[in-house]
Amino acid sequence: MKAVVTGASSGIGRALCAELVGRGFEVLGAARSEAALQALRGELGQRFRYVVADLSKLEGVERVAQAARELGWVDVLVNNAGFGLYKRLLDHTDEELVSMVMVNYVAPIALARRLTPLMRRGSVVVNVITAGVHVLMTKLPAYGASKIALHYATEALRRELKPLGIRVVAVYPGYVATAFHERAGGAPPKMKPIPPERVAKAIADAVLKGKHRVYAPGYTALLRILGPHLPPLG
Ligand SMILES: NC(=O)c1ccc[n+]([C@@H]2O[C@H](COP(=O)([O-])OP(=O)(O)OC[C@H]3O[C@@H](n4cnc5c(N)ncnc54)[C@H](OP(=O)(O)O)[C@@H]3O)[C@@H](O)[C@H]2O)c1
Repeated sequence: MKAVVTGASSGIGRALCAELVGRGFEVLGAARSEAALQALRGELGQRFRYVVADLSKLEGVERVAQAARELGWVDVLVNNAGFGLYKRLLDHTDEELVSMVMVNYVAPIALARRLTPLMRRGSVVVNVITAGVHVLMTKLPAYGASKIALHYATEALRRELKPLGIRVVAVYPGYVATAFHERAGGAPPKMKPIPPERVAKAIADAVLKGKHRVYAPGYTALLRILGPHLPPLG
């Protein structure tokens, strides 16, 4: 089985590459940080290869697609790369908004369009969203909006790919102990995070067990019902 994982250099994506290699997959990881990808290759061995690509640019999307084509076929595409910024909507520069929408929303669809021709019946597309789409994240507003776009697109993609026998898995992590919040320049939520390995295991289980949605930790699924009745977060 062959998997393509974006955001492989850190956090959830890194843990997922290890989890999938551990389950016998060949994995192609993508990210910008070559040193981190190289270190992961050192840890995981030959079943992990990587492509250096900036997914805020369409050339980066094409680089990943080209590397995936060299695999011959793809069984699992995991659109995991993503970032946010702790700031008011109107404090984002135009460039920050464009990059965020590119990485968090456009790249997953653009990659799915390029890779689904390489995917046979029974293959899976995984989009890593956030449980935060069910509440208003006032401290991460542009991020939240980009992830809601991905959430919406994921439901549409599910229907479009069903006739091809390709399943779509939507992943909604809660607060996970990764570099995300520090890189986003903000104080992380005041709750206990779960380790990225737990999200990675839940994603791998969902891929192999035919699930369509993953909430990690599981109780965040309650936000689907309670979210619209809760006050804004932050
Ligand atoms: N941590 C949380 O609490 C949490 C909660 C809900 C959802 N999520 C989602 O989970 C996913 C993984 O995040 P994480 O928590 O594991 O954070 P992380 O440790 O910061 O990892 C983010 C990954 O995305 C990659 N990435 C960011 N910008 C990129 C770009 N322009 N081009 C290519 N790759 C890029 C990074 O690689 P490079 O920097 O090397 O390019 C890195 O590998 C994201 O989609 C995030 O929104 C996280």
